[in-house]
Amino acid sequence: MKRDLISILDLKAEDLEQIMQDAATLKTLRKEGKEHPVLAGKNLAMIFEKPSTRTRISFEVGMNDLGGHALHLNHKDMQLGRGEEVRDTARVISRYASGVMIRAFLHSTITEFAAHSTIPVINGLSDKEHPCQLLADIFTIREYFGSTEDIRVAWVGDGNNVCNSLILASGLTGMDLRVATPDGYRPDPAVVERGRTVGGKVTVFNSPEEAVKDAEVIFTDTWISMGDETQQAQRVKAFAGYTVDEALLKKADPDAIVMHCLPAHRGQEITDEVLDGPHSAVWDEAENRLHVQKAVLVNLLRT
Ligand code: CP
Ligand code: NVA
Repeated sequence: MKRDLISILDLKAEDLEQIMQDAATLKTLRKEGKEHPVLAGKNLAMIFEKPSTRTRISFEVGMNDLGGHALHLNHKDMQLGRGEEVRDTARVISRYASGVMIRAFLHSTITEFAAHSTIPVINGLSDKEHPCQLLADIFTIREYFGSTEDIRVAWVGDGNNVCNSLILASGLTGMDLRVATPDGYRPDPAVVERGRTVGGKVTVFNSPEEAVKDAEVIFTDTWISMGDETQQAQRVKAFAGYTVDEALLKKADPDAIVMHCLPAHRGQEITDEVLDGPHSAVWDEAENRLHVQKAVLVNLLRT
């Protein structure tokens, strides 16, 4: 039976723990320059409807490290771009590859693919979720704090895909999550409800100052996600006051770390001082995409 990673909630607590442990082992092996070709002969098809730096490179390098191969496929260069159906593409790719990673505008494209695919499907970002990012983020918090249990985590910014995965992960991780978003950009109440149903501690605040008070981790993300470019002016206006800057950071725990999935829009959601400053865990977070996704690949693709 194939296993997919489409939502962070596709993982049970024991799956998450296995991925975290495997990622730590794989990180050490890589730093020691030791080869670990457990996916020799495996191919990962990667379909992108949107641009990517981290997701593409970390999956491609990750497959290479594990002795396998990754194919970068821009959907416009495929027959998908001319209207071939997702379900037909899924059936065909299932005959060639060992797994598929998809970055799509619509979450339903990924679930439809998975419904017709016989190989594991990994969500590389949709309008609803970014589970691979969250796994790297959880791993990073564990590196800094030893655990995610009861860690006070603030989200400051748009309540969309990355925020959704963080909310849904709150039960799995035991984080004490405080979310601050402007009116009109709140997380979907159904997502908050689901996060709470699966045991998450999630509080939604009206102001960033309230959310970051004593926080040990501050998350932010772009105000203008891929696909939102036409709303740039209205979004910059709506998010005024939501910049993670030195003044906001001062309200958090003195040892707080700042996280951002990247790409950053310096001067909007985060200042240079914070992104480049001593509290920034952003570059470790970006590196950890590689180690954690390798662990995901090993767990899903190894036979
Ligand atoms: N954080 C993230 O997914 O980055 P990319 O868009 O560069 O893949
Ligand atoms: N929220 C951002 C995340 C990018 C990795 C977007 O959807 O563009």
